[in-house]
Amino acid sequence: MSKRILLIVGGGIAAYKSLDLVRRLRERGMSVRAVLTKAGAEFVTPLSLAGLTGQEVHQELFSLTAEARMGHIELSRDADLVVIAPATADLLAKAAQGHADDLASTLLLATDKRILAAPSMNLRMWLHPATQRNVATLRGDGMLFVGPGDGAMACGEFGPGRLSEPLEIVAAIEAALAGDTTIPLPGAQPGPLAGRRVIVTSGPTHEPIDPVRYIANRSSGKQGHAIAQAAAGAGAEVVLVSGPVTVPDPAGVRCVHVETARQMLEAVEAALPADIYVGAAAVADWRVGAAVVEKLKKGPSGPPTLGLVENPDILATVASHAKRPGLVVGFAAETEKVIDHAQAKLARKKCDLIVANDVSPATGVMGGDANTVHLVTGAGVETWPTLSKQDVAKRLVERLATLVKETGA
Ligand code: C5P
Repeated sequence: MSKRILLIVGGGIAAYKSLDLVRRLRERGMSVRAVLTKAGAEFVTPLSLAGLTGQEVHQELFSLTAEARMGHIELSRDADLVVIAPATADLLAKAAQGHADDLASTLLLATDKRILAAPSMNLRMWLHPATQRNVATLRGDGMLFVGPGDGAMACGEFGPGRLSEPLEIVAAIEAALAGDTTIPLPGAQPGPLAGRRVIVTSGPTHEPIDPVRYIANRSSGKQGHAIAQAAAGAGAEVVLVSGPVTVPDPAGVRCVHVETARQMLEAVEAALPADIYVGAAAVADWRVGAAVVEKLKKGPSGPPTLGLVENPDILATVASHAKRPGLVVGFAAETEKVIDHAQAKLARKKCDLIVANDVSPATGVMGGDANTVHLVTGAGVETWPTLSKQDVAKRLVERLATLVKETGA
């Protein structure tokens, strides 16, 4: 059956993108019922939304005609997912406080479905402690978030607060509908990582050779992203620092996108303190030392020599940091002597746990969907059966939740 979306359009300059969002959802066979807030109606007209959704647009809480056709409680539940796009600071504040003084806030309070919010506001409003507090409360209540993105804003400033692009919102909607999130529904028991902050790195890094070429590796980000998602599902506040990947941002996770190892380290340090660090990224060990401003050219002197210098070791830096998380977890992707190398790495990098796996080409792990891992700690080695990367993530997160509890970290 086609999926039904209840779309709440808040008031913001980015509300025009909600019209494109409706088109994209309908192209994918979803039906969309729209609710337009009073402020939203200042930016898009009910007529455009009605035309694109092919359905009546709901605006009033106390509308006898609307209540006669479909009561607001029914409206709040007759959908597979509730999406707020754009989600303004005001709407988020109302939802965090449990207000119910207009149709949108009442629906958010009355729904028994998952809610995905795509925030959009001026960067100072987004970064304001009040908004951040509200977002943390809502995340804790099980609300999912996509964005906001970073970039130039209509107000002329530059920074976080931009509404995610319609296709990014579609990807988050599809992930939420597919149950690609284990975030508990409103009112459910708190997860085992509730109140914990987790930083996960994922994907490869790209190290520039010149303005168009780079050194990379085959990491897809699937395992790291699955861990970030599972940690969010367990109730943690998650920061995912990802190198360039094609897998979508997991819902309910704050994503920071970087390219190089040095940028990744900077983003990780900026995200500290945390309770748990999981370094699942395949960080390039080396980068080209000399920054080449112009594209390297073929010439009579033959191929260029790439003078490589070592990148910072992010895992080792985090494990010896003044703000060291209580639990520091590394990955060891090896093609031979998997356990020996992992044990050496555990000691050398001073981490608490190494998840070791064999990535020789025959295993298909790099870029594939399954993984066979060994958990290496000071206490010994535990080998898990071959599992999907999602299941490895869930089991690992369960283990991490037990370990933080046991160690009181
Ligand atoms: O030494 P090796 O690269 O095999 O170690 C892998 C582990 O170390 C992974 O957890 C990876 O994220 C981390 N690492 C890092 N910074 C580097 C290299 C690896 O954080 N420069």
